[in-house]
Amino acid sequence: MELLNSRFIFLPDPHKLPDVLSTHTPALLDAAVHAAAAVLRAGDVVVVPTETVYGLAANAWDPRAVEKIYEIKGRPPHNPIIVHVVGRALAEACVSFWPEVATRLAAEFWPGPLTLVLPKSDRVPSIVTAGGTTVGLRWPQHPFMQRLIRTCDFPLAAPSANLSNQLSPTQVQHARSSLGKRVRCYVDGGDCNVGIESTVLDLTQSPPVVLRPGIIDTNRLARILGAQPESLRTSTGSPIREPNVGIASSASPLRSPGLLSRHYAPRAHLQVLSWRDEQDLLAQLSRRIGAGFNREKTWILAHSKIPLQGAFPHVMLIPDDPEAYARALYAQLHQADTGGAERIIVEAVPDTAEWAGVADRLRRAAK
Ligand code: TXA
Ligand code: MG
Repeated sequence: MELLNSRFIFLPDPHKLPDVLSTHTPALLDAAVHAAAAVLRAGDVVVVPTETVYGLAANAWDPRAVEKIYEIKGRPPHNPIIVHVVGRALAEACVSFWPEVATRLAAEFWPGPLTLVLPKSDRVPSIVTAGGTTVGLRWPQHPFMQRLIRTCDFPLAAPSANLSNQLSPTQVQHARSSLGKRVRCYVDGGDCNVGIESTVLDLTQSPPVVLRPGIIDTNRLARILGAQPESLRTSTGSPIREPNVGIASSASPLRSPGLLSRHYAPRAHLQVLSWRDEQDLLAQLSRRIGAGFNREKTWILAHSKIPLQGAFPHVMLIPDDPEAYARALYAQLHQADTGGAERIIVEAVPDTAEWAGVADRLRRAAK
């Protein structure tokens, strides 16, 4: 009876959010790696830090575990999931063909925020690739992910750790407030260093196609590919669908990522505008929304023409540098949402290759 009582005391509180495993000392990191590996080996999912955004990870060899990712996120079945590996051997186990160009790109950018789309091997279950014949592969740079994959010795399928179409998490609490009790195990690896999702490069098309721009831009890719940056097409925003998908599904897999009607979006209505100064911004908003628009519920995100004369109560500053901007972007948008913003006005960013990843996310976040 006593035993029963003491066990009863330790039953998890169903109203309490799951605990977060910390990694900020070597001993805690070690414990988190082993705890997360045990959950993954048992066929369950874990929220993990990566250098881009937090991921919702499962054993990529296990179709039932991967199915949980789709269920938890409410992810459309035709949207394939990126597979995370460490080392060339695990990468090659996922593909049926490893082109020489992949060796060069991997040597330059892996571990890091580049996903390569290659022909998949039979070992990768079709649920991972949404029935398609290609697999998106990435060797992440975050030390926790590297340790975790080495410990598991299987690849990890992991999309961003948020409900489908919501803003990606760059801090563990973003993931926790999106997924809550749907996930039992969260690992805190600190703020994501890159801050936007990886660049996705499709090597199964010739010339290769940038399916999703990211912090590794077309100039850097072209240099390694020995190509002109202009020869690298960036997918235009309308889904390209693969013909002849192998499995019966309601739709064929999306060839290009993030192309669902709305993606990477905060709750608030987001608009991208350019302005000369604060008065100009005020005039534009009054014209577009009406003079009585609610400034209390309007958040401004600015990197260059910062409106600090008092017309707007909520002004968020973000660095005027593409890498630092990307690192801060999602946390700022999450903060505006948490603060009760109804409208977020973002100052337009430059139209250059370095800014393409950020510009893409802003375009998709705008409704
Ligand atoms: O940085 C990232 O890529 C993060 C972290 C967790 O690694 N992951 C991420 O996953 O952003 P997700 O699922 O939110 O976005 C992956 C995108 C999807 O939109 C999907 O369409 C695309 O990559 N993708 C995955 N596999 C693909 C494939 N075989 N062919 C084309 N696109 C693929
Ligand atoms: Mg995502």
